[in-house]
Amino acid sequence: MGTTATADADTETETVTAGVVGGSGFAGGELLRLLDGHPNVELVQATSREYAGKSIGGVHPNLRGRELRFSEPSELESVDVLFTATPHGVTMEHVDEYSEASDLLVDLSADFRLATEGQYDEWYDGHAAPEYLDVAEYALPELNRENLGSADIIASGGCNATATLLGLKPLADADILDGAHVVVDVKVGSSEGGAGGGAASSHAERSGVVRPYAPTGHRHEAEIEEWLGLSVSFTCHAVDMVRGASATCHVFPDGPVSKKELWTAYRGAYEAEPFVRLVAGGSGSYRYPEPKAVAGTNYADVGFELDPGNERIVVFSAIDNVMKGSAGQAVHAANVALGFEETAGLEFAGLHPVGSP
Ligand SMILES: NC(=O)c1ccc[n+]([C@@H]2O[C@H](COP(=O)([O-])OP(=O)(O)OC[C@H]3O[C@@H](n4cnc5c(N)ncnc54)[C@H](OP(=O)(O)O)[C@@H]3O)[C@@H](O)[C@H]2O)c1
Repeated sequence: MGTTATADADTETETVTAGVVGGSGFAGGELLRLLDGHPNVELVQATSREYAGKSIGGVHPNLRGRELRFSEPSELESVDVLFTATPHGVTMEHVDEYSEASDLLVDLSADFRLATEGQYDEWYDGHAAPEYLDVAEYALPELNRENLGSADIIASGGCNATATLLGLKPLADADILDGAHVVVDVKVGSSEGGAGGGAASSHAERSGVVRPYAPTGHRHEAEIEEWLGLSVSFTCHAVDMVRGASATCHVFPDGPVSKKELWTAYRGAYEAEPFVRLVAGGSGSYRYPEPKAVAGTNYADVGFELDPGNERIVVFSAIDNVMKGSAGQAVHAANVALGFEETAGLEFAGLHPVGSP
């Protein structure tokens, strides 16, 4: 991919054209924000059936003043890279059309994250285009960077899965998860449910909650188990924040592990990663990862502690679900696929101090 990129003579910056299907949603809105400021991208289309003809700033007030207007998804323009931020089932239904309209398709839904049709039968309601499953590459660059360069379809990971995988993958790679028992508890903000929300996401119902919503059987377990190579006990809570996914992973290893081994595993995995920061101990108020510190950014903060008896490792991983958990991850993966600087358009810090993310 990336062969269609054209050189801008003035800036000598490679640019590609991009479109967003589902631009009026929460993940789509973040895509528009990121692509609007991306040095290598010309954003040419954003679709919404409900808001077709209206300016993108009319739906996303942070984008007021931008000229782009929503158009119908049935009137897709031909672009170099097409991002689809649509509900589960839409991209698989339209994948021929979306692939025809673009050289690189980056899907933020769950439609192409899993490897086999059998997994979709088990975890979802089957798959409408299983012939594309072999074509798609899972987006998390920290896990699958080497395969993104040749991808035609990229499947951006689930937000809860992203937080969990970034927390646990260094332990898997260091064989510390071999024979281990793993319990994962994720707390997520209300934007995870999308702009449509639902009764449970109304302010009155959501305010103040710490509500278990997927005690067992969460679909993201499939992605987590596929990439870790072991099964995990996974539970999710809806909590009273807008943005953020915070994974607390309790790992009971098969044998003794030292703090030094943990630092070696985490430093080895992440010292060269531009978007993963190790936050483990130290001093001050922010000694472990928390969503507030990454809100609005593409960073994942990851940290850990070891029980004094060495019988439990507790791992923390915090992301912004609509950034590192979806739109930011998708742009990062596209940067890799298109041969741009990996950090292009994503290199900003969050706000501090800030209220509830
Ligand atoms: N929110 C998160 O934290 C998060 C994190 C990771 C992944 N994701 C995934 O990203 C996707 C979008 O999530 P979201 O939270 O942004 O959802 P959302 O806020 O509900 O937005 C959905 C978007 O899709 C459009 N849409 C719906 N049906 C469509 C169709 N048949 N054809 C074309 N466009 C259609 C909607 O606009 P119109 O109806 O006006 O066309 C809207 O722009 C989902 O698959 C979700 O699982 C979300």
